[in-house]
Amino acid sequence: MPFETCATDAKEAVMEQTPKEHSYLSLVGHRYSCRKFADTQVDDEQLRTVLEAARKSPSARNNQPVRICVVQSDEGLAKIDECTQCRYGAPTVLVVAYDHEASSHPTPGHGPETCDFGDIDAAIAITNMENAAASLGLGTCWVGAFEPEKVRERFNVPATYRLVELLMLGHAEAAPGPRHTERLAMDEIVVRETF
Ligand SMILES: Cc1cc2nc3c(=O)[nH]c(=O)nc-3n(C[C@H](O)[C@H](O)[C@H](O)COP(=O)(O)O)c2cc1C
Repeated sequence: MPFETCATDAKEAVMEQTPKEHSYLSLVGHRYSCRKFADTQVDDEQLRTVLEAARKSPSARNNQPVRICVVQSDEGLAKIDECTQCRYGAPTVLVVAYDHEASSHPTPGHGPETCDFGDIDAAIAITNMENAAASLGLGTCWVGAFEPEKVRERFNVPATYRLVELLMLGHAEAAPGPRHTERLAMDEIVVRETF
């Protein structure tokens, strides 16, 4: 389904989404996947705040294996466009990876299936960055549709790093897509006492 990108609607949506006096739940609800960004770059203070949200995130055993590459140059963004069709014009792209040699690995048979805790650590960092950006009135889009080998080659990703996601960041020019409000009912995702 195509995502609507009406600039007027988007401006209103973004203004509505600056959660100055809202609760955390409201902030979470106001974050959405933005699929059209303005050319205007985020300022250094905004970027620092978003990155701080990642730095302060929890990680398994506090191993802190997450690594983030900030891409803002024309050359870098052109390389991103070679790796994904989902930049949506974002002027900042955060390439999120974790160092498999630094992450905590669940004991086989005891951890959450075979998931490396680094994946969870990275997901927490990304989520916190998205929410931090939303708190500043900025837009983000979490992108998993990229060609990892191309990202590895073009951005010199160390062999021990696992790529997790690309996070698009910038000033939103698109309103939330139709799927933003498509959520299961509470009783479809939560059960009590036993599955
Ligand atoms: C792990 C993950 C990967 C995603 N990959 C993409 C992607 O490659 N391209 C894209 O446009 N959106 C991507 N999204 C955004 C989802 O499509 C979006 O979160 C979902 O449709 C709900 O919409 P909302 O974020 O606006 O609430 C991804 C989200 C997650 C959590």
